[in-house]
Amino acid sequence: MERDPAASLIECSPVHAGVLAELHGVCFPEPWAADAFLGLLNPGGASALILHPDEDGGEPAGFILWRLNADEAEIITFGVTPNYRRRGFARILAISALDRSLKAGAQNMYLEVAESNTGARRLYESLGFKAVGRRQNYYHVQGKRIDALVYALSIKNRE
Ligand SMILES: CC(C)(COP(=O)(O)OP(=O)(O)OC[C@H]1O[C@@H](n2cnc3c(N)ncnc32)[C@H](O)[C@@H]1OP(=O)(O)O)[C@@H](O)C(=O)NCCC(=O)NCCS
Repeated sequence: MERDPAASLIECSPVHAGVLAELHGVCFPEPWAADAFLGLLNPGGASALILHPDEDGGEPAGFILWRLNADEAEIITFGVTPNYRRRGFARILAISALDRSLKAGAQNMYLEVAESNTGARRLYESLGFKAVGRRQNYYHVQGKRIDALVYALSIKNRE
């Protein structure tokens, strides 16, 4: 377990699929089944971190799941539970994934974010991500079609 002044991070293995699904279900309107996480976390597949705020001991507050493909990393899903938002935990998770991706040989990190998700976009932009593309009608949320923006960051040249 890794320690930050505000949080501890757990490196996930397939045994964490259930906790990841629970966290995802609290963060997003459309939950993913534990099996989806299990499939992604198979050996050689995606990586994930779970964050625990130090002050509360047990309760997990957020997660990030990403994968590497050659020298490109991609954030697949990422969230902090509502009670723990605006304490810098998403920033810790994102920077931790960026650092690990760089060490594993990635040059760039990509992600997709709903155009309407202004909080997440502000977070990514504050980390140096830039919008590089758009996928029209990419998300289908509560009966509405929403465009995704593709964001990219050169990890090596990150400030
Ligand atoms: C987006 C999300 C991960 C942010 O988590 P968080 O832990 O609250 O984020 P942080 O506290 O690390 O925020 C860091 C910075 O990002 C920006 N930010 C984060 N949430 C914001 C919001 N709701 N509105 C405006 N800016 C926001 C701010 O610049 C913030 O810095 P500040 O608090 O000093 O102003 C969280 O709101 C969440 O899980 N949302 C639902 C799932 C989701 O949208 N995931 C991302 C999908 S791509």
